[in-house]
Amino acid sequence: MTHTLVYPITTVHNAEGHLEIDGCDVVDLVTEFGTPLVIYEEKTIRDQCRRYLAAFREHTEDFEVIYASKAFFSVAVAQLVMEEGLSIDVSSGGEYHVAKAAGFPAERIFFHGNNKTRDELEYVLSEGAGFVVADSFQELALIEELMAPRGVAQRVLLRITPGVEAHTHSYIETGQVDSKFGFGLGDGVALEAIREALISPHIDLVGLHAHIGSQIFQLDGYRKAIEILVKLIGQAHAGFGFQCRYLNVGGGLGIRYTQEDTPSSIGEYAAVKMQGVREEMAAMGLPMPRVLIEPGRSIVGKAGVTAYRVGTIKEIPGVRTYVSVDGGMSDNIRPMLYDAQYEGILANKADQQADTMVTVAGKHCESGDILIRDAVIARPEPGDILVTPATGAYCYAMASNYNGSLRPAVILVNGGRARVIIEREEYADLVAKHRPLRDQGQYQ
Ligand SMILES: Cc1ncc(COP(=O)(O)O)c(C=O)c1O
Repeated sequence: MTHTLVYPITTVHNAEGHLEIDGCDVVDLVTEFGTPLVIYEEKTIRDQCRRYLAAFREHTEDFEVIYASKAFFSVAVAQLVMEEGLSIDVSSGGEYHVAKAAGFPAERIFFHGNNKTRDELEYVLSEGAGFVVADSFQELALIEELMAPRGVAQRVLLRITPGVEAHTHSYIETGQVDSKFGFGLGDGVALEAIREALISPHIDLVGLHAHIGSQIFQLDGYRKAIEILVKLIGQAHAGFGFQCRYLNVGGGLGIRYTQEDTPSSIGEYAAVKMQGVREEMAAMGLPMPRVLIEPGRSIVGKAGVTAYRVGTIKEIPGVRTYVSVDGGMSDNIRPMLYDAQYEGILANKADQQADTMVTVAGKHCESGDILIRDAVIARPEPGDILVTPATGAYCYAMASNYNGSLRPAVILVNGGRARVIIEREEYADLVAKHRPLRDQGQYQ
């Protein structure tokens, strides 16, 4: 039996009745690398990159797929997406640093953030970044100030908040935007930002950007946002000759976390975005820009699973059975943050009937530390290996040391081989940056 819907594409039950990902038995993997263990399958990451490229190539040659590294980042993943021909979006000096450590070419890096600090901008601009996506008037002034002594202009896109908010099944048009991100359309703010950027000598305003949300299933919100963006482009063109050479229409495509989820396909997503830009620009009588998209979750989400060891099992008759695992909110905060739903499977009993309803709990000192409220799995026993699929995006990326947890090891599997791409933290790491009082003398 195969598990292609929610799990990495090569996942099967093997002859031992274990879960196997691209030739690697998950039970063997945890024996070798320990638990919790984050397992990425290389083929799914590459496959998703290629699907995006192929889908957009059906509509245009002038496009760019930018991996939103906030979903999950490591030097190895940066190298994978670079090999596949994607660019990278970073949202901090730290993510920029990882991209550079991976050897990512600066001209393919897009620097985002609603509050880029002066230090971050100084660092990124001095090292070089292809594009800065500017978020505020303050930032425009700062870029101008930092670029002036260099005597060159930085390529900049402006982040616009089009007043369209999309969430999984619907979108709402708010008109007056209540968002910490970007330039709103109310009171001519976005138009004024374009005007200001155009007259700044050390800013080369090449285009606009908008990202309307994440885990989006219904695509009509994109169409609405593109219509609004292009209207703004038309106004700026008429008003001050603005040429929009790059239009970044964000990321956000949803993925399947459970078998019940029904996300749109990459092909449908590409069609809506490309037709939207083409039709709206044509209606405005303006030339097509280079179209940029910024997927994160849909590149790495399905590629990753997390394997835990089952510990305490607590049965409360007539209420529920808690199955506690050796991780939880420190490696996957999404159920607590977004009420995200997951499935589970016992990797060492993958071929056994899933007939036991349990609640999968983490090991942290919070009653809310519940990974799966109602999981149907084979009869659990201490020592079993419980796997949650679709944990490749926004899980390790948001991991913490809460309760002194060690961030898990992250491995990449391919064709029966496993490679460590991020080592498991050790106890020594927890105190590596701590300074004992005795080393610091008295207060001055
Ligand atoms: C500006 C921006 N671009 C791209 C993304 C990636 O979104 P997703 O992972 O949903 O594709 C995000 C995520 O929130 C974002 O804030």
